[in-house]
Amino acid sequence: MRLDKFIADNSDYSRAQVKRLMHKELVSVNGEVVKDPGFKVTEQDQVLLDGEPMRSLGSRYLMLHKPKGYVCSTDDPEHASVLLLLDDRERFGLHMAGRLDLDTTGLVLLTDDGQWSHRVTSPKHQCQKRYRVWLDEPLVADAEARFLEGVQLRGERHLTKPAQLERISDTEVLLTISEGKYHQVKRMFAALDNKVVDLHREAVGALELDPDLAEGEYRPLTPEEVASLV
Ligand code: URA
Repeated sequence: MRLDKFIADNSDYSRAQVKRLMHKELVSVNGEVVKDPGFKVTEQDQVLLDGEPMRSLGSRYLMLHKPKGYVCSTDDPEHASVLLLLDDRERFGLHMAGRLDLDTTGLVLLTDDGQWSHRVTSPKHQCQKRYRVWLDEPLVADAEARFLEGVQLRGERHLTKPAQLERISDTEVLLTISEGKYHQVKRMFAALDNKVVDLHREAVGALELDPDLAEGEYRPLTPEEVASLV
């Protein structure tokens, strides 16, 4: 991959900003300053941006089947963090790449690789998330079209990005979204005057929740799975 693309994909910098940083000799690959934005790098190369490694070596990546009743944060005094579901030795240094609500179940990714979780969660990368949703009321007939066009969430300036809806029954659907606004799925159905009664995340990008994982269980991602979210 081109060096300027590699850095832009793993940071908040645009390709143009990366080129300027390279011009100022702030980028090195395997200890050598590189000024050519088209220089080719692989995951094995050690890329430093202003002295900071772009990707830490030996990073850890896990998928967890989140049960209800756990939060994806570490600063909630009232509820247990999903980190408590991990072995003591495993937990150290990990953070969640994206959050699910207290009452949502399903796929949560954990890592100590900040660049990777940035790619998974940053709006710039528009990583798709698929949810299975159970609704209180039968779904309105034009729901698919309205979600494709984008709906207005309360308190937001812009419509939601196009989202794909697949109807399993009148009250059970699969919804794929590329954003991660606060309570986004629940607020999208509220915009259709409906209510989410159960919510389960099945997939993040190409990564599906492993059906062999019971609620509360987790496993390391394979290198292919880690790379699938790049
Ligand atoms: N949208 C929600 O409303 N809740 C979640 O947990 C995830 C997406």
